Amino acid sequence: MEIVILPTPADVGRYAARLVEARARARPALVWGLATGSSPTAIYAELAGAVARGLDLSGVRGFALDEYVGISDTHPESYARVIRSQVVEPLGLRPENVRVPDGRAADLEQAAQDYERAIADAGGIDLQILGIGSNGHIGFNEPTSSFASRTRLKTLAPQTRADNARFFDDPADVPTHCLTQGLGTILESREAVLVAQGEAKARAVAAMVEGPVSAMCPGSVLQFHPRAVVVLDEAAASALTLTDYYRHTFANKPVWQRVPDAD
Ligand code: GLP
Repeated sequence: MEIVILPTPADVGRYAARLVEARARARPALVWGLATGSSPTAIYAELAGAVARGLDLSGVRGFALDEYVGISDTHPESYARVIRSQVVEPLGLRPENVRVPDGRAADLEQAAQDYERAIADAGGIDLQILGIGSNGHIGFNEPTSSFASRTRLKTLAPQTRADNARFFDDPADVPTHCLTQGLGTILESREAVLVAQGEAKARAVAAMVEGPVSAMCPGSVLQFHPRAVVVLDEAAASALTLTDYYRHTFANKPVWQRVPDAD
């Protein structure tokens, strides 16, 4: 994993946005894996600025990581709606090119299989954006998720429901289930960029990067990913032990490996 430690949350958003921009310029039909939650919002806001200055993302195809089960796609917290308002509309993606797992399907197992098929038909995900939950989940792959898992129905951990209660009027309104890309699905992305900000993520980040590979910290599966970049602010990096090494590596990154206009 490449670990990038930057001073502020805004720097994290800016750096990851420049990386997405570079990949989309190199491949206008980029297949982009989209995360929701608070972690990636600065990336999308930064990219909206780039689009306003002329970046064209209209050829990009998108696949959301996950979706709640049982809330309508017009509910303000449904990920279908969040992806529409934070990504599709401000970044000028074509709505028909962006998919979110169908958490309202009568047959959820079929919906999960259809989603896997759609990703495969698109040629796989080129660049997967990720956040991490305070319990180490990525997507909604809660602790003890199989590393071989594919898109499927999951039960949300009580910790995750409590963490996400801030988005809902009443904590009891947080759905109990979701559809999520599996850890096996995420591992097949060609490049993964995980962003984390704030002290509340520090323990999960340290377990993911430096802890043993364990289903107790689903994010640790990224230790097997051939090209994973973890972009952190100082607070999210505060429980790591090899920070001097990560900073040294970043400062000495070969020019050809750098992200244009970011480092
Ligand atoms: C959410 C999402 C994840 C996200 C994680 C962290 O519930 N399903 O994709 O990365 O949990 O959320 P946040 O970025 O709001 O801290």
